[in-house]
Amino acid sequence: MNLDSRVCEILEIEKPIVLAGMGGASCPALAAAVSNAGGLGVLGAAACGPRQLREWIRETRELTERPFGVDTLLPASVRRANYDELEGPTPADLVPDRQDFAAEFMRKEGLEPLPPEAFERPQADDEPPLFTKEFFEAQMAVIIQERVPVYASGLGNPGPWMSELRANGTKVMAVVGAVRHAIQVKSSGLDIIVAQGHDGGGHNSPVGTMALIPQVVDAVGDTPVLGAGGITDGRGVAAALMLGAEGVWVGSAFLASEEANIFDFQKQAIVEATEEGTSVSRTVTGKPARIIRSKWTEHWVREDVEPLPMPYQGMVSGPVMAAANKAGRGDVNPGFAGQGIGMIKAVRPAKEIFDELVYGAEQALSRSTNLLGGAR
Ligand SMILES: Cc1cc2nc3c(=O)[nH]c(=O)nc-3n(C[C@H](O)[C@H](O)[C@H](O)COP(=O)(O)O)c2cc1C
Repeated sequence: MNLDSRVCEILEIEKPIVLAGMGGASCPALAAAVSNAGGLGVLGAAACGPRQLREWIRETRELTERPFGVDTLLPASVRRANYDELEGPTPADLVPDRQDFAAEFMRKEGLEPLPPEAFERPQADDEPPLFTKEFFEAQMAVIIQERVPVYASGLGNPGPWMSELRANGTKVMAVVGAVRHAIQVKSSGLDIIVAQGHDGGGHNSPVGTMALIPQVVDAVGDTPVLGAGGITDGRGVAAALMLGAEGVWVGSAFLASEEANIFDFQKQAIVEATEEGTSVSRTVTGKPARIIRSKWTEHWVREDVEPLPMPYQGMVSGPVMAAANKAGRGDVNPGFAGQGIGMIKAVRPAKEIFDELVYGAEQALSRSTNLLGGAR
């Protein structure tokens, strides 16, 4: 038995297993390791400014000759670079109040506040501010100039860039969490749709993976679908294929790899967590995201304080997360992860994780034929 699907042909890979774009964590070393193992490594470039994005793409090309992808966000509505254009009261007014709340939390936890330059990203004069419309456009310009093999939008619709991407021969994917969004991106004529369910790490859908995959598959006709969210071992890969997916988009399983660009204390938090260890919280980015439950996420729940929307919550959480990182506090910033992390027992090389996903899926699929009972 040999894991194979149309996705392998489209992406020019050996096995239909794709490293999910995980902001910052899916770095060149990890993406290249997955591509070299026979899958598709995707850079988690959501927060990379144009200069860093170009460096990451070039670094990945140094590390692998095989296809790889780049994942960024394309939110439908974003603030413009100029705050003055916003009219009326905004959540920005509430930032000082929530910052006081965060400062009190830090005092209680004995976290040392850091000077702003320790956590604010250096803003190059010629680069647009993070997560503004101009920022996303500058990222797309680099992706097009660098002629990357695969582009994935983690949020939104790559439609407006489709003709330029196509002209470069770039294959295009989009991550969706609902059937209506799948239908919308399909109309842009992309190559592959990723259906990411509620089990998954990071920003995710209110719909569970098991229910979402077949409904997206049914809705998008002949466009291949990758299943995502909670797929953490070979049985999960096999299950996604059974549900009609033609491959998988795997995040958390690769977070506990030697190559992943997260802190060692965060890898340890993944290894120690159980299946109950995550919750969906707006306390870090302002959008609902599955995260390992921490003193920070629980503090907001206990005190019954409403986090601010994106991007304002980041102004509140940023200093706290930076202080926690400096202090090596996995109990405050363990990071985003999916519900499958209870299965992860050790930090390993990405190739070992990849090979086990393939082997486990092939075993599970061959076992499944016995379930029909025809042989008895
Ligand atoms: C640490 C982390 C960071 C993530 N960052 C992004 C991101 O920047 N862009 C994106 O499209 N998805 C992001 N995601 C979601 C993943 O792309 C993927 O859909 C998810 O990890 C799949 O679920 P799993 O973690 O259970 O495998 C992130 C997930 C994690 C765990």
